Amino acid sequence: MTGAAQGFGQAVSIGLAGRGVDVVAVDISKATETLEKVEAAGVRGVGIIADVSEPDTATLLEGVLREEFGRCDILVNNAGIYPNAAFADVDYELWRRVHRINLDSQFLMAKAVLPLMTAGGWGRIVNITSNSIALPAPGLAHYMSSKMGVIGFTRGLANDVAQHGITVNAVGPTASLTPGGRAHIDPAVIAELSGAQAIKRPGSSADIVGTVLFLAGDDSGWVTGQTVMADGGLVRL
Ligand SMILES: NC(=O)c1ccc[n+]([C@@H]2O[C@H](COP(=O)([O-])OP(=O)(O)OC[C@H]3O[C@@H](n4cnc5c(N)ncnc54)[C@H](O)[C@@H]3O)[C@@H](O)[C@H]2O)c1
Repeated sequence: MTGAAQGFGQAVSIGLAGRGVDVVAVDISKATETLEKVEAAGVRGVGIIADVSEPDTATLLEGVLREEFGRCDILVNNAGIYPNAAFADVDYELWRRVHRINLDSQFLMAKAVLPLMTAGGWGRIVNITSNSIALPAPGLAHYMSSKMGVIGFTRGLANDVAQHGITVNAVGPTASLTPGGRAHIDPAVIAELSGAQAIKRPGSSADIVGTVLFLAGDDSGWVTGQTVMADGGLVRL
């Protein structure tokens, strides 16, 4: 689980723990609260404080999985950033940073877990994208590019790993009141978007958990390469 210290990543970690899944929480910040809640559910929680956009983190993760568990069944690629910036203010450094953290990290983490998943003959990879890719929202060209990349990566990887019993799907939340959303998204934008949703309230950290758990479990075995917008019915694919 990446980006597990707060927000969607914390909520999904706790949801997985509730289903009896041990959780390795990878985050650039300490995931103390998440790990406490995971362990309170009676499973193991292991924290890795690291930047998911660094290739060394993939090596570290693979080592921890091999030594501590000897297996990996589920990868949720959730860590991401969403700095809003007018295109005139997006320099190459910001462009690359957003792509490194939102997209390159998903490649790196998949590389880290796939040898173990393949050996186990069963796996679920869930990549977090965003419903913003289909919205006329300004200041997000760099972000939308990275999140469309997530969808392309999901579709492509699904083809390469299906023979090993592994599915790969993406989940797209809407603008939500996670800690990151509260800090980085204009409340007026959240209000406007939630008013346009079929379900007219802002999203919260808990709102994608059920969809991710479905895609991370046995019941979704015939679903792969797909993107599910878990967004209160705003964007329809
Ligand atoms: N909140 C929203 O409105 C919204 C909407 C659509 C999609 N999303 C996506 O959902 C995901 C999670 O968003 P959130 O709202 O829970 O965010 P958040 O900011 O509340 O939490 C993100 C977590 O990721 C961690 N993180 C950030 N960069 C990292 C890095 N380089 N390495 C390791 N960990 C890192 C942070 O420390 C934090 O714990 C992101 O991919 C985001 O793009 C969010």
